[in-house]
Amino acid sequence: MCGIVAYLGERNAYEIIIKGLKRLEYRGYDSAGIALATDNQIKLYKRQGKVSDLETYTVGKDLTGGTGIGHTRWATHGEPTDNNAHPHLSFDGSLSLIHNGVIENYSSLKQELISKGHEFRSETDSEVVIHFIEDIRRNNNCDLDEAVRLALTKIVGAYAIVIIDQNDPDLLIAARKSSPLVIGVGKGEYFIASDATPIIEYTKEVVYLNDHEIAVIRKDGLKLKNIEDVPTNPYIQTIDIELEAIEKGGFKHFMLKEIFEQPKSISDSMRGRLIAAKGHLVLGGIREYVNKLVNADRIIIIACGTSWHAGLVAEYFFEEWCRVPVEVEYASEFRYRNPVIRESDVIIAISQSGETADTLAAIELAKSVGAIIFGVVNVVGSSIARATHEGAYIHAGPEIGVASTKAFTAQVTVLSMIALVVAYKKGTISETKYHELLTELEIIPEKVETALKLDQKSKIIADRFKTATNFLYLGRGYNFPVALEGALKLKEISYIHAEGYPAAEMKHGPIALIDEEMPVVFIATKDSSYDKIISNIQEVKARKGKVIAIISKGDVLIPKIADYILEVPITHEALMPLVSVIPLQLLSYYIADLRGCNVDQPRNLAKSVTVE
Ligand code: F6R
Repeated sequence: MCGIVAYLGERNAYEIIIKGLKRLEYRGYDSAGIALATDNQIKLYKRQGKVSDLETYTVGKDLTGGTGIGHTRWATHGEPTDNNAHPHLSFDGSLSLIHNGVIENYSSLKQELISKGHEFRSETDSEVVIHFIEDIRRNNNCDLDEAVRLALTKIVGAYAIVIIDQNDPDLLIAARKSSPLVIGVGKGEYFIASDATPIIEYTKEVVYLNDHEIAVIRKDGLKLKNIEDVPTNPYIQTIDIELEAIEKGGFKHFMLKEIFEQPKSISDSMRGRLIAAKGHLVLGGIREYVNKLVNADRIIIIACGTSWHAGLVAEYFFEEWCRVPVEVEYASEFRYRNPVIRESDVIIAISQSGETADTLAAIELAKSVGAIIFGVVNVVGSSIARATHEGAYIHAGPEIGVASTKAFTAQVTVLSMIALVVAYKKGTISETKYHELLTELEIIPEKVETALKLDQKSKIIADRFKTATNFLYLGRGYNFPVALEGALKLKEISYIHAEGYPAAEMKHGPIALIDEEMPVVFIATKDSSYDKIISNIQEVKARKGKVIAIISKGDVLIPKIADYILEVPITHEALMPLVSVIPLQLLSYYIADLRGCNVDQPRNLAKSVTVE
């Protein structure tokens, strides 16, 4: 969602901020703006549309200055217009602010400020914050950082904010609560952003701001304090993301690059953790509380979207190998349902971005009743990674395409390893099966590599079905979550309506949809429900549906009945989702691309959903 970039130093702030905003485009947005504090004035430029529209608008304008803030807005309060775009000005125009998050009590604060004579230029909740800070500074005759602190004690909601002052251009003030903010520390210069991607080409030294922390930044130093006015020490970390990881590297889209990265990202998720020949499987991040998992009476998995699908695959792992009941919950439902969480329950929260507001809130809820939470997260240092008691990073590397691909397979890999650790400790898995699975897991990257050879064949099938208006995805057992994931991938980037179902459910409703126009994708690899799924394929064919089947290599039966086949390497039934999802990702990608859709930034979607 909204992206924040700010700079303070000797370089031209405009250039750094524009470049940074482009790096954050993947988060999803509908307007962009920049404010520069120089020559005792704020130069403000904002535009509905893309960062490139903002660049066009600023041609010939005064863009000098070494202090500035920039923002990409994903509309919540008020339509995507020039006026509603950030940065926003205080009433007197001397302060400017960018904000990511939602201010819940903005309406009452706004009424109070209106009664004092404030007029507002936008419909946003964010503009209220900077007017409120201005009002507090005036009433208390205090420094700006104190006014920010006092304001934040009254503000309810989620925020990452950065503020500049025309009368003190050598100053950036930043603060966060429940919305991410990273400060890059250079030599006599500072960078601020919603995530590290705009920063890493300048510095690898970063400080992740904590909730309720306020940063007061000048060229000669960074000071932190909390909302209670107690100074805190900046913890400077070195991040190990290389620039190539966030560039397209010759691929047309980030999504395609990320699909092709999967042999490596899956390997990376296992690196140092799994050595099958030695029977070695150790996840350092879950050592302290692992017995909680081993002794759990129930595991509750919370996540959203694709991460929720990874959770569904994990449900099968934990139930089959660890013999423990599992519930997989949408974080957004879980948090509002007054759920029953018992002391012997353990929660696993899954999130690529580590910033999903609903997942974070569900974690806080579970923590408040004493539950132990494990995180399965990609983004190092993210809010969810820090909110959980223990966890295992998936190490998939930055995922820039909005549609999650490599994060899904890395999540499934890491969840399979956690389940195997627990099963082994519990003694609910035989030695033979445990070693068999470790061996198979270790060579999964090679099988994924082979599945990626379906690239051109997927493109041909995509071309045949690119004008379809509906798709049905069906699978059974471990391939049922894969069907859901295939349907989600297609709908989010191609805007074709698609539904995923357990294949046996087809008879209970969706079969009514089938006619000669209806493409039905079966994930029909050779597993324990193979015979059953063949019957389901026959049922679709009997109604003239068009069948695209993902099958196991060497299958001779399904090619006789399906219209199109995509053959994937054979692996253990439980690990098949890691392989069978590959052609579905490719099919969605090519359908979307052939339809001329913006694959990496689909309409209305954001990469990290930081509002509920
Ligand atoms: C789909 C997709 C979303 C995310 C969901 C959760 O391709 O990317 O459905 O999976 O928004 O996001 P994270 O995993 O960051 O919590």
